[in-house]
Amino acid sequence: MTAVPVITALFDGKCHRLTFDPGPSLRDILDATDYRVRSACPGLGACGLCRVRWLAGDGGPITPAEWLQLGDAPLAEGLRLACQCRPGGDATVELLSLAAPSDWHVPPAGLISAAALSPASDRALPSGIAHPLGVAVDVGTSHLTIAVSDLSSGRPLALRFGRNPQGRYGADVVTRLVAAEDPAVAARLAAAVREAIGAALADVGAREGLDLHRIGRVAIVGNTAMLALLAGRNHQLLLQPSQWTRPLDCAPADAAWASDWGIAAEADIEAEPPLGGFVGSDLLAGLVATRLTEGRAPAAFIDFGTNSEIALWTGEQLWVTAAAGGPAFETGPGRAGMPAEPGAVYRVTFDGAGRPACAILAGDRARGLCGSGLVDLVAGLRRAGTLTATGKFSGGEASYPLSAGDQTLSLDWRDVDALQRAKGAIGAGIAVLCSRAGVASADLRRVVAAGLFGRYLDVANAQAIGLLPDVAADRVELAGNTALAGAVGLLLSRRAREEAARCRAGARLVNLAREPGFDEAFLENLYLQPMVS
Ligand code: FES
Repeated sequence: MTAVPVITALFDGKCHRLTFDPGPSLRDILDATDYRVRSACPGLGACGLCRVRWLAGDGGPITPAEWLQLGDAPLAEGLRLACQCRPGGDATVELLSLAAPSDWHVPPAGLISAAALSPASDRALPSGIAHPLGVAVDVGTSHLTIAVSDLSSGRPLALRFGRNPQGRYGADVVTRLVAAEDPAVAARLAAAVREAIGAALADVGAREGLDLHRIGRVAIVGNTAMLALLAGRNHQLLLQPSQWTRPLDCAPADAAWASDWGIAAEADIEAEPPLGGFVGSDLLAGLVATRLTEGRAPAAFIDFGTNSEIALWTGEQLWVTAAAGGPAFETGPGRAGMPAEPGAVYRVTFDGAGRPACAILAGDRARGLCGSGLVDLVAGLRRAGTLTATGKFSGGEASYPLSAGDQTLSLDWRDVDALQRAKGAIGAGIAVLCSRAGVASADLRRVVAAGLFGRYLDVANAQAIGLLPDVAADRVELAGNTALAGAVGLLLSRRAREEAARCRAGARLVNLAREPGFDEAFLENLYLQPMVS
């Protein structure tokens, strides 16, 4: 495995080892961890609060902003501005002052493509607001992600990523929809997400030094249940299967949102309508972000999550469906699972003697396995014969102890079972769409994998256990959170809105529950082996 560079951060007499991918500034690297430095500007070198002492390693050249903010003597003593340094490899820094703890972080590297966050900005600007800003929001079942952009230039200004607080009412959408049958609980579920979006914006306002009253437009995407629960209406319809393929009105109903969030009172709040009861506007946003219907065909798009949405573009027709992904990719039902957050084992490799090595996201203390780590581990154990194709430990054990740094994680049979069920449902979804479209999955010329996997999913491992179609690796793209990238497109770009309208008008929705071949395909795809074409 290629060695992942490490920032050794000294703070409060302790030493924290933080893995990172070279490219972003030290501030951005730290913002994805629990060690955020103080700041009051968008990382422009303007506030001078993000000071660190550089002790070892290359942090890149000293910038004019650092000369201005720090001066000769402090620079000679090793002081730097974290937003101006770009570590290219291992480095040691002393953190001089941390920001107050927050539930909001910058998304892990690779979760969102930087290029996708900067589409051409050509929508009419909101009137009456000088230098207006816009916010894109992806309301996911497990996480909320927001992006703040300059509406005039399209320049991305801030990103935030945090847990969806509705999780305390249930990990999956059905549990939350059932809970929301009680109007008091429905009101609390709606308020929880609204307040979380407000908290994320307040965090951006304070840390990036942005005036939230400049926010003149908000574009929201999400799966249908999340949008309906946020709007506080029509969610009860989603418990009726007859409604699943019908459009559902999830438009914001409450004009008080803008004042709750402290943004411009006249701000447009646009919730992109879902395609149907079980296919949300997060899928639509993903199609826009990846331009699925403009590239090579046949092409498949799979947005992995608790509700995994799948699209197939034949070159003429767009087919869409959704399959129950369950908790396998994000939290897991056993003790090992966790989302792609600091401390997650996101990559597992095995040496020639079968010894595993773990890469830990933004930290040195393993707290659990995220989806990509789980896929690596299960594929590795399958190759070694420790797991059978039916997902049983060949020696009859109930778990596998994975040594990760100074921790031992336990891969529970329940985690393997959840992964099998998720890939069974997704594989069956792909099989049903391919069959409807008359396409063999092995003939797909483009396969886009989206979701919290970011760019960490090992394609060969995913294919070995049947999570992705068995096509040449160069036909597979790891796209990260395409829903947020698409929401940024809808916020800024006329082309994106036209593309979304085209996809909406042409999409044919397939309800897997009513497909005669689904059960057989599900059973076939439960096995830990390459996907059947
Ligand atoms: S100067 Fe670095 S964040 Fe403001």
